[in-house]
Amino acid sequence: MNVKKMATASLLSMGIIGSMFTNTITAYDHSDQVQTVAHRGASGYAPENTMAAFQKGVDMKADYIEIDVQQTKDGELVVIHDVTLDRTTNGTGYVKNHTLEEIRQLDAGSYFSPEFAGEKVPTLEEVLDEFRGKTGILIELKATYHYPGIEEKVAEALKERNMHKPNNDKIIVQSFQFESMKKMDKLLPNVPVGLLVYLATDLTEAKLEEFSAYAEYINPSKSLVTSSVVEKVHEQDMGIMAWTVRKPEEVQPLLDAEVDAIITDYPDYVPSHKED
Ligand code: G3P
Ligand code: CA
Repeated sequence: MNVKKMATASLLSMGIIGSMFTNTITAYDHSDQVQTVAHRGASGYAPENTMAAFQKGVDMKADYIEIDVQQTKDGELVVIHDVTLDRTTNGTGYVKNHTLEEIRQLDAGSYFSPEFAGEKVPTLEEVLDEFRGKTGILIELKATYHYPGIEEKVAEALKERNMHKPNNDKIIVQSFQFESMKKMDKLLPNVPVGLLVYLATDLTEAKLEEFSAYAEYINPSKSLVTSSVVEKVHEQDMGIMAWTVRKPEEVQPLLDAEVDAIITDYPDYVPSHKED
């Protein structure tokens, strides 16, 4: 059990916080309702990781938008999935070899459809400022081995906006790089962190207990999700968000397994979604 959870548990056992549990020292959102996460925004309907895709996620009433963060040559934080520009923009080469000014000239929409020509690669700050309070934000730190110190920069961006306090905003930080998340937990003790898991060997009881020392969420590939995995994660008082749903028929097995959230390119595939 991690410090956040131990503090909560001991206050609970002393009868001090009672029903305040879910909005003081956060573990994970214990809501019965499955949460819908718009993956890279509603990226089935708009170019991934653009303001258009994030706005579409909000319009579709997703509980969270998921965003991928990388770092430019001049140390700025930008929202793009790949370590290179080639697939989703009209640029080429590594993000880390280009300045923010260079990257901001690029078209990040035309690869998806001419309708989105002129969409830019957003900055992290721009996304936080535009979408805080409108939806939760699941921030993924990509390829952190390329970007020493990126954890501190992300922490600073959240602190500057007072978004690092318990449940001020629905913010979760996740990564495939577990050491980065351990660091993030120390930098921002009140912001929940998630571990992105693609190996079954990271879902044993022993591993989950180890992870629960610093993580609030285990976020596995949907192919690894079973009722038993969900139970084991919950036993360690962590939440579970499964990725990535791209077909309608992929939803029900995850609902049956009782995951806490479904990460999807198509928020409307999740029956709980609240779009009018
Ligand atoms: O949020 C989960 C998912 O985004 C992890 O994979 O490659 O789409 O960033 P990827
Ligand atoms: Ca991602």
